[in-house]
Amino acid sequence: MNYSIFVTRSIPEAGIEVLKKSCASVDINQHDRVLSKSELIEKVTGRTGVLCTISDTIDVEIMNAASNVKGFANYGVGYNNIDVVAATVRNIMVSNTPGVLTDATADLAWALLFAAARRIAESDAYFRKGAWKGWGPMQFLGADITGKTLGIAGAGRIGENMALKSKGFGMTVLYASRHENTRMEQELGARRVALEELLKKSDFISLHVPLTDKTRHYIGPREFGLMKPSAILINTSRGPVIDETALVKTLREKRIAAAGLDVYEDEPMPKPGLTDLANVVCAPHLGSATQETRTRMAVMAAENLIAMIQGKVPPNLVNPEVVPRFPEGGPH
Ligand code: DGY
Repeated sequence: MNYSIFVTRSIPEAGIEVLKKSCASVDINQHDRVLSKSELIEKVTGRTGVLCTISDTIDVEIMNAASNVKGFANYGVGYNNIDVVAATVRNIMVSNTPGVLTDATADLAWALLFAAARRIAESDAYFRKGAWKGWGPMQFLGADITGKTLGIAGAGRIGENMALKSKGFGMTVLYASRHENTRMEQELGARRVALEELLKKSDFISLHVPLTDKTRHYIGPREFGLMKPSAILINTSRGPVIDETALVKTLREKRIAAAGLDVYEDEPMPKPGLTDLANVVCAPHLGSATQETRTRMAVMAAENLIAMIQGKVPPNLVNPEVVPRFPEGGPH
């Protein structure tokens, strides 16, 4: 019970309640912003555990300051913000929140796909500024979705859910992935292809790969060159998966039709020129942002953290390599 926890941002109360039941001290960042490195170092010092978010950089400096911390519970499924290797060598556990945000993130990918295909953001802006003078046969013509080809890059939970939701639209589904996804193939009729083929044949391309050294700029000038001029690119994974400067150029020159983005290379800043373009729909990293999903994430992250500080294996451990090194009774 003598546990001292730091929570780097305000999260739904249900998660805080879970923490308070087991911990003597739960300190929450009261600013509605990401803490600076020095603020974070000060806050993690002497803590037993930290509940952090995808915008906190948890690197070696933070871990050195957090010498009593038994675990970092990330509030998010992606954990590229945490130096997991550095955590593992220090026997610090890291957890994430998989599964609970799958539907919400795939739903947002679909929302961006619809918005980009049917030019919703662009026509909403036109309507709001009072420019609309009445119905017109050639106004804001977009693209059909039903019966088209959807290319999904990354066949994990969210990519698979994207494929599942395409069934109502009678789409042909291609996917590119390091691993075969038999459920996608057998139950959803998806076909695994090389990325090149997916880029050449898809009308809509939706990215669902994690950010790693291998997927940084996974989509760049060469890949844009393979896409159809009518292609629409959707990204709800991580910004650096796309070379955003090359995307701006490609969209400006109308070498693909449009993009729907939830994530950016240098969040929160878009690359120069991105927001001047009419053929891009931009959401501010809202993939998991529903009341229900964020509440489930808060509880899940809190439960992971409680397990870690008690020296138990949390339900969503991302560095299982630390477990065999636990001395009997716990990691420290
Ligand atoms: C995640 O969980 O990785 C999402 O990007 C958070 O919204």
